[in-house]
Amino acid sequence: MSDSVQIIHVNTDPAYDVTVGSGLLRRCGEQLAAVLGQCHAAVIADSTVAPLYLDTVAESLRTAGFTVSTCIYPAGEEHKNLTTLSEILETLAQQQLTRSDCVVALGGGVCGDMSGFAAGCYLRGIRYVQLPTTLLSAVDSSVGGKTAIDLKAGKNLAGVFLQPAAVLCDTDCLATLTPHTFADGAAEAIKTGVLSSRELFDDIAAGALRENPAEIIARCIAFKGRVVEEDPLDNGIRRTLNLGHTVGHAIEKCANFTISHGHAVAIGMVVMAKAAEKLGWCQEPCSSEIAKVLQQYDLPTATDFSAAQLANAAASDKKRRGSHISVVVPESIGRCVMRKVAVSELETIFAAGLEA
Ligand code: GLY
Repeated sequence: MSDSVQIIHVNTDPAYDVTVGSGLLRRCGEQLAAVLGQCHAAVIADSTVAPLYLDTVAESLRTAGFTVSTCIYPAGEEHKNLTTLSEILETLAQQQLTRSDCVVALGGGVCGDMSGFAAGCYLRGIRYVQLPTTLLSAVDSSVGGKTAIDLKAGKNLAGVFLQPAAVLCDTDCLATLTPHTFADGAAEAIKTGVLSSRELFDDIAAGALRENPAEIIARCIAFKGRVVEEDPLDNGIRRTLNLGHTVGHAIEKCANFTISHGHAVAIGMVVMAKAAEKLGWCQEPCSSEIAKVLQQYDLPTATDFSAAQLANAAASDKKRRGSHISVVVPESIGRCVMRKVAVSELETIFAAGLEA
């Protein structure tokens, strides 16, 4: 692979660059020194990612003049909790990081969310950077400054908004992903196509995500960056990024989290697109097109959970406001809108989306 990179500027407060390309982990020291200056960098990674990339990152940072500490926690969504957050915070304190230092999140969405939250709490907030190693974190979660941990009551219930100081997305990391983990990210990339542009959707359908992932990742990030610039705190347009997520989260919950996020969102997109068609909300039939692309990327498009089960699980979604909830509805490929519906209507809507 060539070492050419694409840079997407995200104009939030603070503003930052997302760099996408090959070989970025082994060059991260020089890149990050240019943004952060030489400081103490605490690299946080889980027990799966650390053996693959931690030495490369630590060596590059040291060579560029950083003092480097590391913190490794056990892999898995079940560790995205207060216990691990507390261990990370204690480690940062033991390592004597100061306000001029930084946290380096090396990993997928769990690592980015939890490390970002640790950076947001430690000393009332220090800088952090994201080095996403999964497709899902590359196309979605590493950009936009949402950080969180899960609580017993549900996923992502405690967190802060804190934009990273930089994101370096090394596309070489895709080579170590399992097909299942790659598919999880593909679901979020396909979601971006449905939300943003017929052209992006068609290119992903034509196989570009496998053939030229850097280009598709950069286009997904460029779209997400524009949305986040407009609505950094998730009060309006940013919520459309939750396409497929109301049903997706309900499926994850009903399945006791044995179905992964991207796979659940894939089903959720098809259910909402079918419902939109049946209820006359969609200008053109698009559920079959969405389902076809998802299947090309080995993603599921149907569920055995009933409309009642899903509606019951969705009723406790954090997107609910009183007796109503906003759902994201595709009107056509490349155009989605939010619709406020009564929680009592959810079962009927989901039933429409589950019909053959
Ligand atoms: N993952 C959706 C968002 O960042 O808003």
